[in-house]
Amino acid sequence: MVEKKKIRKAVFPVAGLGTRFLPATKAVPKEMLTVVDKPVIQYVVDEAAEAGIEHFVFVTGRGKGVIEDYFDIQFELEQMLRERNKNAELTLLTNILPKAGTASFTRQQVPLGLGHAVWCARDIVGDEPFAVLLPDMIMTGDNKSCLKGMVELYDQSGGNVLAVEECAPELAHRYGIVAPGEEIGNGFRIIDMVEKPAKGTQPSNYFINGRYILQPEIFTLLETQERGAGNEIQLTDSMLKLLKQQDFTAYPFRGETYDTGAKDGFILANLAFALQREDIRPLIEGPLKDIIAKMG
Ligand code: G1P
Repeated sequence: MVEKKKIRKAVFPVAGLGTRFLPATKAVPKEMLTVVDKPVIQYVVDEAAEAGIEHFVFVTGRGKGVIEDYFDIQFELEQMLRERNKNAELTLLTNILPKAGTASFTRQQVPLGLGHAVWCARDIVGDEPFAVLLPDMIMTGDNKSCLKGMVELYDQSGGNVLAVEECAPELAHRYGIVAPGEEIGNGFRIIDMVEKPAKGTQPSNYFINGRYILQPEIFTLLETQERGAGNEIQLTDSMLKLLKQQDFTAYPFRGETYDTGAKDGFILANLAFALQREDIRPLIEGPLKDIIAKMG
C-alpha cells in the first residue's frame, strides 16, 4: 500500500474554451457563469476547502484572467462598501478570499486535453498526493461534499481515489468509465478503466464524475502520454498505466451532480440550488409551477 500523506493541494483545470456556452463564453469564462449568486468556480473551491484543502492551484488559459482577479481583493469596491456601511457584503467578499499565498495560477498554453492540463500543475503540486476537481461538475444532496467523502475513504485505502456515479448505459460513451472489483470500506477497488468507450463496449456504467485523488507518480506518466479519445491527452489513459503500479479505489458519490458546462445541466443546477435556499424558494416555487403549467 502507498504511504498516506495528507491531501493539501487541489488542482482546478479552468483552461477549457466553453464552446458549448457561446456566445456567453466569448467574454466570460464558463467557470465564472453564476449558479444563483455565485460563480461556478466558487462552489468547487468551497468543496475543496470543506475537504481540508490548503492550496488551490488553477490551470488557466488565454482569456481567463478574470478568475485570478476574482480571488484577489477589489480595493475600490471594498472601500465603497465600507463608506456605505454595507457590512454584510464586505464580509461576503472577505470570506471568499483565499489566504495570502494559498492560490497559485499557471497557464495551459495550448488546449491539449485534461491530462495535459493536470500535468501543467506538476511543479506547483510537487511530490505529494493531490486532488483534482473539474469545475464544470458541481454537486449537491449528500450530507457531506464529494471530495470530503473521498478524503475519508483515502484515509483508509491510501493510493488513488476516484469518485464515480452510475449513468444510463446509453450515456457511458461520454465519460471515463471504471470496472469494479472487490469492495473496500464504502467503496470498491477499480480493476480497469477506459476513456469514452465506444457505444456498448463499457465495462460498467460507473462513470468518473470529475473528482480525483491522485499520487504524484501520475505526472511522470502524463509527461509521455500519447493522445487518446478526441485526439487529446487524456488523464484516464495515464491513470490506467498507474493502475498497473498502484491501487485505485472508487468512491460512489450518492448526491446529485450537475454538468454546468452543458446548457441543461447549468439550468438544472440553478433551479436545484435556488430551491435549496430558504430566501429564494418561496419566491420561485409557485411561479415555476405556473410556467410549467402554461407551457403544457
Ligand atoms: C472528463 C474526463 C472523464 C470524466 C468527465 C466528467 O471528460 O476525461 O473521464 O468522466 O470529465 O465530466 P470531459 O467532460 O472533459 O470530456
